[in-house]
Amino acid sequence: MAQTASDMNSAPIMRRGFIQFLLGFSVISTVVGIVYPVVSYLLPKSTKTGAGDPVEVGKVEDFPVNTSKVVPVNDKPVIIVNTKAGNIKAFSAICPHLGCIVTWEARKGSIFCPCHDGFFNPVTGAVVSGPPPRGLPEYEVAVKEGKVLIGKPLGQLYGG
Ligand code: FES
Repeated sequence: MAQTASDMNSAPIMRRGFIQFLLGFSVISTVVGIVYPVVSYLLPKSTKTGAGDPVEVGKVEDFPVNTSKVVPVNDKPVIIVNTKAGNIKAFSAICPHLGCIVTWEARKGSIFCPCHDGFFNPVTGAVVSGPPPRGLPEYEVAVKEGKVLIGKPLGQLYGG
């Protein structure tokens, strides 16, 4: 069967259409690749838990009396303390002296900064001794259905 003139011309047209499709696709991909990161940067992220939303850090029994744990709360270290009185308290775990992470000193029943021997009251966060210029900022604490929730920082800084 002999090819007609229109059959012979259709192959270059199909090739041209395919090349135009590829060019269009690459232009669209480039535009999306540039626009998407810019729009993502400009629009605020919507996350389920905002910076002020309470964060569950465990069950009450995870924090026995006279112990503590440092946990992340909205990307910040927070020390959770169950005081001798059985009240769960939460403070920023960042020492206000030079930024070391505080820990728990069980023998003294105090929050302790190992960098320069700073001691803090586990009930108030106030400086007990050492070089820290101020106390640890306190966080909201709530206990619901046996779970410990940490909320916003209370914004109080206790003096030494
Ligand atoms: S960094 Fe905590 S006492 Fe110096």
